[in-house]
Amino acid sequence: MTMSDVTFKINNMEITVPEGITVLEAARRHNIDIPTLCNLKDVNEIGACRMCMVEVAGAKALQAACVYPVAPGIEVFTNTPRARKARRVNLELILSNHHRECTTCIRSENCELQSLAKDLGISDIPFEGEKSGHHIDDLSPSIVRDESKCVLCKRCLAICNKVQKIGVLGAVGRGFTSQVQPVFNKSIAEVGCINCGQCIVNCPVGALKEKSDINRVWDALGDPTKTVVVQSAPAVRAA
Ligand code: FES
Repeated sequence: MTMSDVTFKINNMEITVPEGITVLEAARRHNIDIPTLCNLKDVNEIGACRMCMVEVAGAKALQAACVYPVAPGIEVFTNTPRARKARRVNLELILSNHHRECTTCIRSENCELQSLAKDLGISDIPFEGEKSGHHIDDLSPSIVRDESKCVLCKRCLAICNKVQKIGVLGAVGRGFTSQVQPVFNKSIAEVGCINCGQCIVNCPVGALKEKSDINRVWDALGDPTKTVVVQSAPAVRAA
């Protein structure tokens, strides 16, 4: 233990971790599972999805573990009925605005949203209604962006801006009208995207995917005057 270490309790177990880290990071270092969706360590720590809610003794409201800093003597409970219920309701709300075509989605069985729903035993969504995003942008040579599947985690935006330092994605609107989209409301094809594919790699769902040759085949099949020439996929992933 050093001067800058912090000792606190998590699920009645006393642990010591470095000062300045979050409850989520402390839990991970001690193999305590807290579900997350928007969190991308050191890149996207914005507390947006509220899947990581935990109880902190003495605090009235539940806290998002991914943005709650450890402090000496606090007591954190990660798996109380209240925390589990909050995560479930939050996930149901996210799912209620998600285009749930899982059987045909390229990310099925490799989707963080789907995994969370399975883990929390969610099969029915009690909050049905109008959905906010409908636009599909497939003008890029390598990336297809489907707003109807976006969960507004902003991981794509953070990777593009902070890691790749390209900055072609932005957040617009508030509440129901919130969207993550290419800047100036343009297509990805029009904003200087370098086709690195990191937004796709870090998307937890199927909102961003590689454009495959099969799309071009179907496009051409719909137009009998076109000749279909299948070449290797144009998408380039960063090393
Ligand atoms: Fe903590 Fe999303 S992971 S709010």
